[in-house]
Amino acid sequence: MHFTLADLVTDITQNGAESGAALVELEVSQTGNSGGGGEFRFTVRDNGKGMSADEIKRAVDPFVSDGIKHPHRKVGLGLPFLIQTAEQSGGGWDIKSEKGKGTTVSAWFDAGNVDMPPVGDIPGMFRSILMFQGPREIHITRSRGTGGPSYELRKTEISEVLGGLEETGSLVLLDKYLRSLEEDA
Ligand SMILES: Nc1ncnc2c1ncn2[C@@H]1O[C@H](COP(=O)(O)OP(=O)(O)OP(=O)(O)O)[C@@H](O)[C@H]1O
Ligand SMILES: [Mg+2]
Repeated sequence: MHFTLADLVTDITQNGAESGAALVELEVSQTGNSGGGGEFRFTVRDNGKGMSADEIKRAVDPFVSDGIKHPHRKVGLGLPFLIQTAEQSGGGWDIKSEKGKGTTVSAWFDAGNVDMPPVGDIPGMFRSILMFQGPREIHITRSRGTGGPSYELRKTEISEVLGGLEETGSLVLLDKYLRSLEEDA
């Protein structure tokens, strides 16, 4: 398996961005150090269309797919895959959603478990997420260790400073900026 936790976070955050939300909030925290141990945890909160209890049940079921977005795919990926990965590596998950109000998805992973996927490229992940179309604001909070947040990112602020996120030059700058923040975190 070559996927990373960053891939999972990106996927779940994309669901939030596609939910019609004006605001998507992402928290990514990591305790422990490179020597091992600790926990990787993330929460995605959106104020989009939300899901009924029945819709949540369908969304977390690996054998149900709406067949619209991916007509050739026989199983869903997103949420079922997150749940399976968390449960197989000694972690857990939680989904709360209210129709018309929004959705909150959290998952945590035990960094001491040999089956935990690699974390992957966190700055690269933030860069992709900040470029999601749809939400007016994307607010990211990153924490390393046990203290408070190490750094925060807001799509509106970054886009204003860089004069838009579309140009190649802006993306290179953004990438450098995100990597320097993560190095100092
Ligand atoms: N944050 C959310 N808000 C509202 N509905 C959601 C949210 N997350 C998931 N869903 C619902 O659950 C369904 C399944 O989500 P999932 O991520 O598994 O697949 P998908 O987004 O349809 O396709 P893919 O992620 O493979 O592109 C979505 O189509 C959507 O109806
Ligand atoms: Mg999805």
